[in-house]
Amino acid sequence: MIDDKKILFSGMQATGNLTLGNYIGALKNWLTLQDEYETFYSVVDLHSITVRQDPAELRSRARKLLTLYIAAGLDPEKNCIYYQSHVSGHAELAWILNCFTYMGELQRMTQFKDKSAKHADNINAGLFTYPVLMAADILLYQTDVVPVGKDQLQHLEITRDIAQRFNSIYGDVFTIPEPYIGKTGAKIMSLQDPEKKMSKSDENPNASIYLMDDKDTIIRKFKRAVTDSEANIAYNDTQPGIHNLIDIYSACTGKTADEVVSEFAGRGYGEFKLAVGEAVADLLGPLQARFFDLEKDKAYIDGVIKNNAEKADYYAQKTLRKVKKKVGFPEKIR
Ligand code: TYM
Repeated sequence: MIDDKKILFSGMQATGNLTLGNYIGALKNWLTLQDEYETFYSVVDLHSITVRQDPAELRSRARKLLTLYIAAGLDPEKNCIYYQSHVSGHAELAWILNCFTYMGELQRMTQFKDKSAKHADNINAGLFTYPVLMAADILLYQTDVVPVGKDQLQHLEITRDIAQRFNSIYGDVFTIPEPYIGKTGAKIMSLQDPEKKMSKSDENPNASIYLMDDKDTIIRKFKRAVTDSEANIAYNDTQPGIHNLIDIYSACTGKTADEVVSEFAGRGYGEFKLAVGEAVADLLGPLQARFFDLEKDKAYIDGVIKNNAEKADYYAQKTLRKVKKKVGFPEKIR
């Protein structure tokens, strides 16, 4: 607890362009939770280097992502928005937690299996221990709740296991975090292959809506979205393409899936796809305008970066001091 509020932590990687999946699955929920919780929203740049990055591009993407958090509506006075690499506690705690995590557990992580298949020439130890760093991110702030999309649930599970294991040895050191999954849109699928999640790293640009896509591009991508030959707008698992479009439309408009189905009953796919495209463009337009304005205000963004890193570091050190003492490291002499 900080000032009687429960604590929330979440983060995103600054790799690739953010997609509508990131927005609906995570960022949108962050906005609704910002008043209720004491929040920490990190740009997790330490995680990004598990895959080779161009340094200048990583730096620029990280800043854009941080700016985008604010453009989306997170108030940096209320929310601690910062770069993970500015708070050394993340890496320190990750090392300690590495010693409380088993190889077998990490070998079971589906994201590790996927990423090592994709980057077979660079299966580094960081890629393997990625979930431990994520556990450190979360446990460092005594987090109660972690809003994420469904694809991160396995990482949340291992975080809880590591925390419980540590607590069972040393007493109640870490709060055990709970995942928070939104009601709709916890897994937005590719527009070209609705059996696959929409992903920043998809090679086909038509598969994803990027948050910076302009209206024409958005509409064009939705027009090309893969559906089926049923010619019936229904919400079921046998029509994954339409199911995904309903999820997107309902996340953008706040309508339930049933409401969307009755709104479009008897109408054609073409008309529905256009409506989904318009709803997404209406949602992203104002965010993009705010982003371009904010990006120009270098001093303001610099101030956010500096102040929030200090705040995050303060809370991180509190937990780290406790952990270091518990595991038996000698106290610093001042
Ligand atoms: P990342 O950067 O891949 O994704 C950021 C957030 O977006 C969600 N998401 C989706 N939700 C719905 N549909 C989709 N198609 C979709 N694609 C992505 C993700 O679930 C995530 O919530 N390992 C994390 C970053 C991270 C983190 C953390 C998250 C590092 N430390 C601590 C929470 C807490 C990741 O790579 O997310």
